[in-house]
Formats: sequence, structure tokens, C-alpha cells
Amino acid sequence: MAKSLFFSLILAAAASAAPSAHTRSGVTTMSGSQVSSYTPYAEFSRAAYCSGTDTWNCGAACEALSGFVPYLTGGDGDGTPHFYVGYWPSGDTAVIVHEGTDPTKLLSDLTDEDFLLTDLDPTLFPGLSAIGIQAHNGFHGTQAVTAPAILAAVKQIISERHVSTVTCVGHSLGGAIALLDGMFMRIQLPSSIHVKVVTHGMPRVGNQDLANWVDENITDLAHITNMHDVVPIVPGRGLGFHHPSNEKHILSGDDWVACSGQDNTDPSCIVGAVPNLLAGNVIDHLGPYHGVMMGTLSC
Ligand SMILES: *[C@@H]1O[C@H](CO)[C@@H](O)[C@H](O)[C@H]1NC(C)=O
Repeated sequence: MAKSLFFSLILAAAASAAPSAHTRSGVTTMSGSQVSSYTPYAEFSRAAYCSGTDTWNCGAACEALSGFVPYLTGGDGDGTPHFYVGYWPSGDTAVIVHEGTDPTKLLSDLTDEDFLLTDLDPTLFPGLSAIGIQAHNGFHGTQAVTAPAILAAVKQIISERHVSTVTCVGHSLGGAIALLDGMFMRIQLPSSIHVKVVTHGMPRVGNQDLANWVDENITDLAHITNMHDVVPIVPGRGLGFHHPSNEKHILSGDDWVACSGQDNTDPSCIVGAVPNLLAGNVIDHLGPYHGVMMGTLSC
């Protein structure tokens, strides 16, 4: 009851606010160059949907990231989403990318009552369950399957290419796995290695303690949300799920804002823009992310 009144108030605020005034608290308009700086990561997310990443011959997305050297590819596109790991000379970083899934299927999974918050596997994430951190069981199970092989490939890239940054990227389900990969890399790699995470249309991954841990320990994070995409508002906060800070929200086209705090309810940010499932649009999940569309149809 209280919650729906709260959402109605937000909707009323959204309707009365001037659309182009971005002087609201916690919302900052991004410059054109800031927006463009995220385009390569959208191409990385898009490439994960395309065949040919093993030889870096996956069409337009691979062409946009010329020079990328794949080290490891895998997944079956079913229980284990496709992924690739490689060296990106232009960014001087190792990159890990996971494919997403059909958004309609993802939504039905995430609004199903079968999911639950679960402790992180202590062999992969030593110490984190002791401080109360929990993640969605499906996301964690999926991430855990590929984590050891991915870590080995990243260590090989670090030693052969002398990179000091590891970048985790993904769209949709792939974004949820990327956040967990980022945490995994932060824990498993020396503190001299910088961990960067960029996600597109990421659902909520874990509980408040997980969001707080990410805020403190993965400061180089951008979770990009598009217009009225419904995926980033599930699973709900009422079920104990929370986003980390560092949302970048696309109002439309090149008009992006940086939203401060966790689950910022300003109508210029995803939680305020999509107060409930019916207010969302699943088509916005696919993009465009500064001109880049996601999915197998966009290969
Ligand atoms: C950051 O990571 C360290 C090491 O796991 C942990 O002790 C600390 O509590 C984390 N910060 C937060 C806010 O959880």
C-alpha cells in the first residue's frame, strides 16, 4: 500500500517535471565525449551474441574492435551463455564478456518465485558469505561454471601482455554475470590489477551487502540502463535485491545522465522511470546503446 502510493508520487513528479532540466539532485548530464567513451563496451556486449568471436570474425561488432585477440571462448548458448575472453590493445586490458539471453525468458525467470538469494561459493569468493553477501542463485550458479577457466585465461593475458586492467562486460544476463566476474576478479587477482565493469541492461544481482561491497571495492563501474527497459527493475527491491551505485541512464539517443547512489528513484534514472513492470518496455532492453543494438538479430 505504502509502496504503491510512493510510486504514484514518483509518477506524478515525473509528469510535472520539465523533461530537459537535469539539475535534480543526484542526476548529472553526461557530455558527448563521456557518452562516446562507452561505445566500445556496447560493441563488446553485442559481439557476445554473434558467432565468430573465436577468430574475431563476428561481423560489425568485431570490426568496430579491430585488433582484439581472443584467448578463450566457450558456453553452449543454453544453460551456459556464450562468453569470450581476450586482450584488447586499444584499451590495454584483458576483457571478459558474457552473452545475454532472450529478455522475455529472463523476465519470466526473474519474476518467478523460484529464485532466491544465496551465499557465494566460498572457494570462489572466500570471506564474502561471512559478511552477509548474497546473490541471485541462478546468476551465481551460471557465473560459477565458467569462473575457473576464465580466471586462468585472464592470468595468462596478464603475464603475456603485461596488462594491469581487467574489464568485465555484458548485456542483460551477461551483465549480471559480468558484475559477479568483477567481484571474483577483485578477490582473486592482486590489488595492483585494476578491475573495471561495464554492463548494459543489468538486472539486480544481489542483496544490500553485495551492492555495498561493490560500491566500495569496484569503483570503476558503469551499469548502463536504457529508457524504459524493464529488466533493470527486477528482481524487486521488496524482495531484498539492490543495485550498486554508478548507474548511467539513457534518456534517449545521446542524452545520457549519471545517477548517483543505489537505485536512484529520480525519474531521470531507471528506478524512477520504470516504477513497476507495466510502466516498462522490454524492447528498450535491446537498445540502442549510443547506436548499438543487442541480440542475435544485430550481428
Ligand atoms: C570491500 O572488500 C573487503 C575485502 O573483501 C571487505 O572486507 C570490505 O568489507 C568490502 N567493503 C564493503 C563495504 O563491503
